[in-house]
Amino acid sequence: MCPMCWTLLIVPVALTVVHGNPVGTVMPRTGSVPVLGSGQHQNAVSPGGDTQTTAREGEVVETADIMETGELNPNYYPARRAAAVVQHYLNTRYGSPYRWMFLGNVHNASSEDVTEGRKYQLELTIQEMISNVSGPCSAELLFPGAGTPQVQASCDWLLPNNTRAQEEAFYQQHRDSHNLVSGDRIPDSYGHMEPTMKPFWHLGGVASSFIMLEQSNQSTLYNMAQVANFTQLETEKDQLRFQYHVLLHEMVSQEIIHWKMLITWSPAEGVKVLQTDLQPKCNCEDPPDSIN
Ligand SMILES: *[C@@H]1O[C@H](CO)[C@@H](O)[C@H](O)[C@H]1NC(C)=O
Ligand SMILES: *[C@@H]1O[C@H](CO)[C@@H](O)[C@H](O)[C@H]1NC(C)=O
Ligand SMILES: *[C@@H]1O[C@H](CO)[C@@H](O)[C@H](O)[C@H]1NC(C)=O
Ligand SMILES: *[C@@H]1O[C@H](CO)[C@@H](O)[C@H](O)[C@H]1NC(C)=O
Ligand SMILES: *[C@@H]1O[C@H](CO)[C@@H](O)[C@H](O)[C@H]1NC(C)=O
Repeated sequence: MCPMCWTLLIVPVALTVVHGNPVGTVMPRTGSVPVLGSGQHQNAVSPGGDTQTTAREGEVVETADIMETGELNPNYYPARRAAAVVQHYLNTRYGSPYRWMFLGNVHNASSEDVTEGRKYQLELTIQEMISNVSGPCSAELLFPGAGTPQVQASCDWLLPNNTRAQEEAFYQQHRDSHNLVSGDRIPDSYGHMEPTMKPFWHLGGVASSFIMLEQSNQSTLYNMAQVANFTQLETEKDQLRFQYHVLLHEMVSQEIIHWKMLITWSPAEGVKVLQTDLQPKCNCEDPPDSIN
């Protein structure tokens, strides 16, 4: 099975890819509440290096009869959106330039309303994209009425050390700031990127998960669409430092959201996001109003 095709669930979705930006439209079905939904096409690069167009997070149709509490259908949006938040959480905990987690299947899910908000119990598969290893995780998460979701997750197979050699080599290569690296449009509109840019793409994706975790609620589904650009800054206190400009795709509203962030990384300290700045919508594609 194609490792990147986590879920190809059938939805009445018409997909058009315009300039590499995914656009999904869902046809309303009679008898159902219309309709939040999206399919996603994302240009992604497999660990083997070939570029492929993949689809995932296929199913988010919203209908009146989807249960939102109790036992949940693991393929429907309440469970999938909650599970995507677990993915972001795991990236904030375990991510690195050589470790980037994605959501595979959700096996079962339940939710209940509690005084603090809504709580989910999930059993899911997480796939680590660079080593192409996947395994099961159990998670509990709480969407409070407002604010950042709270997540607890255990994935016993996610050993913290299986990418140490690559991380160490990357760190040694870039810690001396005599040749600061920069790059842009990773991947480009055709899904291509230079092999040397891949660790910076992974790092941008992992750092984006910090923002996506913080921004997520039960009505959102975020993904990183592209690293618009990044610049390496002088190493400080043994931490590699980078300024990133990333494009996040919120799949329910179909918005592309620009964020700048200052991040640091070292094998010892992991990824840290020191500063995030939501960018006003640019003058290129969208009218400059209605940013929240
Ligand atoms: C990833 O692992 C799966 C099995 O889990 C395998 O079928 C697939 O070929 C692997 N992909 C790459 C690019 O190594
Ligand atoms: C998932 O399924 C297992 C066995 O079928 C069950 O023991 C567990 O309680 C379920 N978990 C959730 C979150 O529903
Ligand atoms: C990684 O850690 C596990 C458990 O801590 C250990 O058994 C394994 O040998 C370690 N692997 C490497 C490559 O160091
Ligand atoms: C969820 O987040 C989106 C995007 O920030 C926001 O528009 C929406 O109001 C939020 N929904 C809830 C229920 O907080
Ligand atoms: C990074 O990309 C953004 C969005 O395309 C652009 O506005 C910004 O000027 C770029 N920054 C650099 C340093 O190239």
